[in-house]
Amino acid sequence: MEKTLPSASAASTGLSRRGFLAAGAAATSVAWTAQSYARVIGANDRIRIGFIGAGGMANGHMDAINALKEPNNLEALAVADCWKTRADEGAKKVGGKSFTDYRALLDIREIDYVTIATPEHWHAQMTIDAMDAGKAVYCEKPMTHSIPQAQAVMKKQKETGRPLQVGVQAMSDDSYSSAAQAIAEGVIGQVVQAQIEYVRRYDKQGPWRSPDITDATPQPGDLDWSAWLGNAPKVEWNPHHYFEWRNYSAYSGGICTDLFIHRITRIMKACKLLYPRRVVGMGGIWQWPDGRDLPDNFELIAEYPRGMTVYVLGTMSNRVGIDHLIRGYRGTLYFTGSGWVAKDKDGKILATHEKTGGEDIHLHHTNLQKHLREGAELNCPVELGMAGVVAVNMANQSWRSGQMMAWDAGQAAMVPAHELPFNPYPEKAS
Ligand SMILES: NC(=O)c1ccc[n+]([C@@H]2O[C@H](COP(=O)([O-])OP(=O)(O)OC[C@H]3O[C@@H](n4cnc5c(N)ncnc54)[C@H](O)[C@@H]3O)[C@@H](O)[C@H]2O)c1
Repeated sequence: MEKTLPSASAASTGLSRRGFLAAGAAATSVAWTAQSYARVIGANDRIRIGFIGAGGMANGHMDAINALKEPNNLEALAVADCWKTRADEGAKKVGGKSFTDYRALLDIREIDYVTIATPEHWHAQMTIDAMDAGKAVYCEKPMTHSIPQAQAVMKKQKETGRPLQVGVQAMSDDSYSSAAQAIAEGVIGQVVQAQIEYVRRYDKQGPWRSPDITDATPQPGDLDWSAWLGNAPKVEWNPHHYFEWRNYSAYSGGICTDLFIHRITRIMKACKLLYPRRVVGMGGIWQWPDGRDLPDNFELIAEYPRGMTVYVLGTMSNRVGIDHLIRGYRGTLYFTGSGWVAKDKDGKILATHEKTGGEDIHLHHTNLQKHLREGAELNCPVELGMAGVVAVNMANQSWRSGQMMAWDAGQAAMVPAHELPFNPYPEKAS
């Protein structure tokens, strides 16, 4: 007999603003690189893992853990998914028990960390529940669906000290930390602007639609639809929502939270950015007006207090991209397939970097495991996860409301930009 799943309300309302501010989350300076947790697992001890969610990305995590099992001394103990068939298939693939209620998995004392690979609207509650159960967490991006949820997760992380690796796996590519060092050393001079993109061209059915899914696709008999919905608005079984959830704002932020988070986090790390000062988001449902309520083409511009803007281009209609680069007064830093190169205005090379990592979940898991065993610095800690959630949520809110949004550091909240004093100058450089 299944237990009733908890409501996600604690994640969206359980935050006292005072508690959040006390946790230091309103600071405008960058704190995420200094994060270091106490070693919690012996250097030679086996690390035991549970998987929450057993869909597309979770299978990638299971493959990664299977591959790392021997070299990194790991063991999978359980898989949970509210679709029993998926949970059972996952447990067969990776080993361990199968559950439909993720809280039963969290009851297994021996599990050291869990992966959370569910739709966005569940990330916060599951992360909080896992930390309350004493687990470390590898939570897929975006860290949470909303800003208040990100604040609740941050608060819980500070209270419990449980390690949280956010699943922006490109943070395990050392190009971005090494660019940060070069920029801080002045290689390209004063930085003023960065640009990056995520472009794709989808087939006729459009982004995040499956040709196999129709209005008549039945609910699997062993799928707990109410558990999947969680705290989202109650609706009857809808195959498009279950299989194509990235198109609906009840479960996703679309291009912004699914794709831009991968990109803007790179610039944040390289330029040591935390919360943006102001953000605009523009785009629309230009090509696929098929019932989705999130854009299929989208762009954002974020202005940061250190005195720079970040432009992110996104289209799902055309895969012609733009260079990923950071502009400084002395030169430009271009990210390349193999690392980065910085050039001056005449094209003379100022510095280069050959990357040693990559956008790779194996490396990202290994980083978390090293953190647990040796206290290695996490490549994508909660502060960086939260800063990403803030930027992309501000962009989506700007798009929806037709306003430029600003980050009110005093209130730790986004507000319409006209409510804050205008300041054309940089604030204290971070
Ligand atoms: N880092 C990356 O490159 C990358 C790539 C793809 C997806 N993702 C992320 O992974 C996450 C999952 O995406 P996906 O494509 O695998 O989605 P999916 O729909 O294929 O899988 C999600 C699974 O979660 C399960 N689930 C939902 N609610 C649950 C609950 N209450 N209890 C137990 N199981 C529950 C669903 O039944 C489903 O099997 C998302 O956050 C997505 O952004 C990351």
